[in-house]
Amino acid sequence: MEASRKSHKPHCLVLSFPAQGHINPMLQFSKRLIHKGAGVTFVTTRFMSKTLHGLSSNPSISLESISDGFDDGGMKAASSPEAYLERFWKIGPETLSELVERLISSGRPPSCIVYNSFLPWALDVAQKYGLVGAVFFTMSCAVSSVFYHCQKGLLEVPVRKQVLLPGMPPLEPQDMPSYVSDPESYPAYLGMLVGQFSNLDKVDWVLCNTVYELEQELVDWFMKVMPFRTIGPTVPSFYLDNRLEQDREYGLSIFQPEHDTTMKWLSTKPKGSVVYVSFGSVAELKIDQMQELAMGLKRSNRYFLWVVRSFEEDKLPQDYAKETAQKGLIVTWCPQLEVLAHEALGIFLTHCGWNSTLEALTLGVPMMAIPQWTDQPMNAKHIMDVWKMGLRPPVDERGVVRNEDIENCIREIMEGERGKEMRENAGKWRKITKEAVSEGGSSDRNIEEFVAKLIDKV
Ligand code: UDX
Repeated sequence: MEASRKSHKPHCLVLSFPAQGHINPMLQFSKRLIHKGAGVTFVTTRFMSKTLHGLSSNPSISLESISDGFDDGGMKAASSPEAYLERFWKIGPETLSELVERLISSGRPPSCIVYNSFLPWALDVAQKYGLVGAVFFTMSCAVSSVFYHCQKGLLEVPVRKQVLLPGMPPLEPQDMPSYVSDPESYPAYLGMLVGQFSNLDKVDWVLCNTVYELEQELVDWFMKVMPFRTIGPTVPSFYLDNRLEQDREYGLSIFQPEHDTTMKWLSTKPKGSVVYVSFGSVAELKIDQMQELAMGLKRSNRYFLWVVRSFEEDKLPQDYAKETAQKGLIVTWCPQLEVLAHEALGIFLTHCGWNSTLEALTLGVPMMAIPQWTDQPMNAKHIMDVWKMGLRPPVDERGVVRNEDIENCIREIMEGERGKEMRENAGKWRKITKEAVSEGGSSDRNIEEFVAKLIDKV
């Protein structure tokens, strides 16, 4: 059933946390909602909405904003993560309520709030106005399970020894989300992540950006304890089922990609020859790690494309870009999906952000996992040991991956037996992710069910 089936459209407010790694999946999910017959207003913070570029290609999505209390500088303007979250938790619900009231009085009343799991207070706002409340988890089911067990008092923090949780392989402390293995690092965020589960007994839907077949046992377990549904991967349709028109990119970006430079350079490189390096939008590498990485890439003597955001450029060795110009290209941001889909790609050296992980699985690119913090260690564990699509090199006493290990890992993936196994597995994961969102696939059915229930209520 597609968009034409009913004249009364349910209207979803989709509320994202103000960060690229959260905006991308929630925006993509919005497009799937529209495809199934819902209307969408996409909401983020005022500061973030001023910063974002794009979305001109998708007139069906209206953009609105609420306040986090820092309209002129966002998170970076707060004196600490604690101060940011405290103010956001106070101002956010007030301004979200104002938005709901404004939409009601303008004749476009919302029927549902789909809110990022980091913002549990949005459920109170939904219920205050009699709206359906759907929480959206942007991280994997495995990571969500860890915080669920913390919230229930079933997992002691900090984790110092091996842990067994339902539906997952045995987990060592270094496989755990950083907030759990090292709770002192960002205590405010641990509270926020555990708090995701504080009111789920009252929620109507729990939506998770994963694929049933990727985390099957765990999803089955979650479905027994809450109204849990998988809806991923939230990768643009062009790379999956190609049913959504002109859906080749996410559409909203904090950084401007160096599109032409990147794609022109890639087009001159042989098939499977390039190491693509990116640590996403948030992580800031230690200077030691930048230097080891720079040396490892140079020693590997492979072609490399490295995303170094402008505020990290000064951590590169002096004249590095000039000295390696024969082999490497350094850009401040790139069109990652197009890059991963390019036949010149050989390896994705990644921080294992969940979006990057799903994109690499969808596009069948073997990974070298160098997780930095938050959910990334857990994603790295699954990449290497569960999906067998990558390797995680060891870290030294500084917590840094050394240049010789980077070089060895590149060689193992490009030339070794394990690399061969990954390239064989790539076909399997590509097929599974594509089928999940295609007509009748596991995620497609779940999105269909979600919208159909909303339509019944209109
Ligand atoms: C954050 C967290 O760090 C991550 O661990 C969590 O899973 C989601 O939120 P981020 O660090 O930005 O996200 O990483 P990731 O989830 O991988 O998202 C990055 C997004 O930016 C991807 O969709 C990727 O395609 C895009 N990107 C990245 C670009 O378009 N160009 C680039 O040059 C780099």
